[in-house]
Amino acid sequence: MSELVAKRLQVALQAAKEAGDYLIRIKREIAVDKKGARDLVTTADRGSEAIIRQILINEFPEDVFFGEESGGTDAAAFSGLERVWIVDPLDGTTNYVRGFTDYGISIAFYEKGRPLIGVIAAPEKGELFQAVAGQGAFLNGEPIRVSQVSTMIDALVATGFPYEPDERGGNNTDHVANIVPLIHDLRRMGAAALDLASVACGRLDGFWEFGLSAWDVAAGILLVQEAGGMVSGFAGEPVNIFAGRIVATNRLIHQLLLAALARGQTGFVAK
Ligand code: IPD
Repeated sequence: MSELVAKRLQVALQAAKEAGDYLIRIKREIAVDKKGARDLVTTADRGSEAIIRQILINEFPEDVFFGEESGGTDAAAFSGLERVWIVDPLDGTTNYVRGFTDYGISIAFYEKGRPLIGVIAAPEKGELFQAVAGQGAFLNGEPIRVSQVSTMIDALVATGFPYEPDERGGNNTDHVANIVPLIHDLRRMGAAALDLASVACGRLDGFWEFGLSAWDVAAGILLVQEAGGMVSGFAGEPVNIFAGRIVATNRLIHQLLLAALARGQTGFVAK
């Protein structure tokens, strides 16, 4: 691992831990606001982002920082940038507000458009996931691998529902109707970054969602790939963090899940 990456990994892990401690500490004092009809934001989202930003930019002032609460990013702003952090300071805000423990922090580092570091923390579960390109994926320091499930009938799969129904894909119910009869069971946990981490460590065999943002998936993609899984768009095309559509699996059920998705409204429509 290069010194550049090793140093950034240590600082990203520290930022995730400090933000996680903060999220647990201030849980009872938060104020809740709305970014859209169903999309919540809290003082905790903003506070967590401020902590992470300060730690990262203090150490690496030359890096660019994109966070969900400070404007995020888009493909145009991202392309051509040398070194970029993409951060979701609180993924699963609704769970956090409602007292569920499935929420997390997602921190990704990209160099010239390529993911080099992915860190996802689930503070109330005491879980810290990390991956470095070419170096494998880990949960609390132990190596993780995707599952070995190879049939849809044995597959545990997760999805999510866009807060703003997608103009090309409705609200995902057509896919759910097509896929539920084929699989063992479906989960909707409510934090896309943790869904991707769950595919990486083999708790889930697959995950699909549309209407996601770059900060939801930027770190989780690397985790899944480094754990031996596969990540793509809905038509099997290379994953694009700005496309908002993602299919992540243990690799063994990837084509089966793509085929099932192709039967739904959003099938092969590229964004
Ligand atoms: C949300 C979660 C959820 C997904 C939404 C995301 P947020 O992130 O990841 O699972 O379905 O599309 O926006 O808003 O809680 O950071």
